[in-house]
Amino acid sequence: MSLPPGFLDELRTRTSISDVVGRKVMWDTRKSNQAKGDMWAPCPFHQEKTASFHVDDRKGYYYCFGCHAKGDALGFIKETENVSFMEAVEILAGEAGMQMPARDPKAKEKADRRTQLQEVMEAAVQFFRLQLKTTAASDARDYLAGRGLDDDAQDRFEIGFAPDAWQALWDHLTGKGVAEDLILAAGLAKPSNTGKRPYDTFRGRIMFPIRDVRGRAMAFGGRAMDPNDNAKYLNSPETELFDKGRSLYHHAPAREAAGKGHTLIVAEGYMDVIALNLGGFKAAVAPLGTAVTEHQLQMIWRIADEPIIALDGDTAGLRAAHRVIDLALPLLEAGKSLRFAVMPEGKDPDDVLRDGGRGAMKAVLKAAKPMVHLLWQRETEGKTFDSPERKAALDKALRDHIKRIADPSIRSHYGQEIKDLRWNLFRPAPRSKGGWIKPDAPQGSTKVSALAQGTTSPNAMREAVILASILKHPWVLADVLPELETLQFETPQHTQLLGFLLSYIGDADALMEATQAGFGADILTRLTTPPMVKIAPSVRRTDDRDLVRDCLRHEITQLTVAQSGQQALSEALDDFDDTADEGLTWRLSQLSKSREDADRGGGEEASDFTIADNGAKVDITEREALEKLTGQIDFTKSKRR
Ligand code: UTP
Ligand code: MN
Repeated sequence: MSLPPGFLDELRTRTSISDVVGRKVMWDTRKSNQAKGDMWAPCPFHQEKTASFHVDDRKGYYYCFGCHAKGDALGFIKETENVSFMEAVEILAGEAGMQMPARDPKAKEKADRRTQLQEVMEAAVQFFRLQLKTTAASDARDYLAGRGLDDDAQDRFEIGFAPDAWQALWDHLTGKGVAEDLILAAGLAKPSNTGKRPYDTFRGRIMFPIRDVRGRAMAFGGRAMDPNDNAKYLNSPETELFDKGRSLYHHAPAREAAGKGHTLIVAEGYMDVIALNLGGFKAAVAPLGTAVTEHQLQMIWRIADEPIIALDGDTAGLRAAHRVIDLALPLLEAGKSLRFAVMPEGKDPDDVLRDGGRGAMKAVLKAAKPMVHLLWQRETEGKTFDSPERKAALDKALRDHIKRIADPSIRSHYGQEIKDLRWNLFRPAPRSKGGWIKPDAPQGSTKVSALAQGTTSPNAMREAVILASILKHPWVLADVLPELETLQFETPQHTQLLGFLLSYIGDADALMEATQAGFGADILTRLTTPPMVKIAPSVRRTDDRDLVRDCLRHEITQLTVAQSGQQALSEALDDFDDTADEGLTWRLSQLSKSREDADRGGGEEASDFTIADNGAKVDITEREALEKLTGQIDFTKSKRR
């Protein structure tokens, strides 16, 4: 809507900012000078005892010397009522007795029709509420009381009752002179197919009025009293007033509460919203019997930057979450995100509050997970990734999700977060001692005989060197433990042996004894079959412990660097399928260069070492080079058309 020229000036002249602000603050009468329009109060935007909030009535501005909040009367309404600019204009114009301009004559007509429909809806709200007080509604009242809704709560949520009759509301409204077509258009009655009088849409139901963001009644949700009714909830049909996908239950009060700092919670049902409110969680909304739509998501984000989606603790709840994620991914932008609070098994927020009270709900909300975690959970939970193919499929699924994020910065953060989660999933789980019992040691098993055969790729060769070094020098285990724990082997047999060796954590003596007694000799022979492994200094040398240790560390570092290089390389290649970016070719060549450097390896005793994120010691220059390169690649870059 555009305002005619001069409208805002007129509005400002007619509005006294000290009147507007005065409704929300207590003036400091000693500091203020009313005659001069020079007013002071404790600031409504931050906690304080002194009056550092200043209103200049003549200039029409406020300014807080404490928190630097500032603005005019419209800005003040916007902030304190949590409304849009236009809505603030409308509020002040109403108070100043100024008519908001209608866009065109048609619009005025339409506005009149809407007003009429809203009046009919309002009459219905009142009718249903009165019906709830009658004897015919005693069952309904008992039911509500049983669900923890006392009279006060019933009034607060304007809960009503539709009598179990065909024309109760119809007769009431027509009796008041309401035009029949308005009752039908409001969705309160339906025309009869058999030529009889129209009949009430809601019969024998507990009624929840649904109001728009300005608080005007536009629809109802009706809960069946009869447990055998085939629709537990019946909602108003779509009408001129009611667009399901663009409406939220309890929108206006939630918006106001969110403006006061309450966390916005999106629940699934009417009763959840009510229970949340009664539990003190005042900023709660729900969609209206449909899955959350894109519009509703946008409405929700207009109320709060990071709402919590409260999910029923069942499979339907999880499915709903996945739909929300699918919807939200392309819409994410800086500062706008979602968190997900999953209710305990089989419960909805209403149940949680009833069973565990406010504390239980607080705990569930506190444990809300960021969206990226749900995305991860969705792709990994209940699945095993025991083959390269499965790992690749996971990577692809995750990348496909991330590619849908339009905002490049958020996309890359998601990419990073997923990489971290992936790292945690695939690194060998730290084994507690005793988790592996000696009779199960891979010695002599068929798996062990594969040890040498698997040793073909450069990385597998490095793995063999690392394992052989430890078997040959068990004492070294304690020295390289931090590096080993985060190490990820690609050969399953090697992984198994590493796990076995790690089970000796804190008990290197036992491993030493075991090897002296002959344990591992067989494995060692196999591991050192390839000459590359046999001549590796950390395996071969026995005279110089420091040298053995340093060479082994170096070997581990090389493997880590080669692996991260490979991962970056494969992801960059993946990227390459999508975009033939000029910079990419250069980055790829740099990347393979750094890998070659790592491959050449060996002998740089003088180089500096540092601790990498994963705990491994890494040559500083290598690490810097690698970081520089991986940092430059946007792993999540998507195809832009
Ligand atoms: P639920 O069945 O989870 O509702 O449906 P609830 O709020 O927990 O209901 P109570 O606790 O049994 O009273 C969630 C929402 O889905 C819509 C309603 O909006 C409901 O609040 N719904 C559900 C329907 O529209 N129709 C139905 O038949 C059932
Ligand atoms: Mn429920």
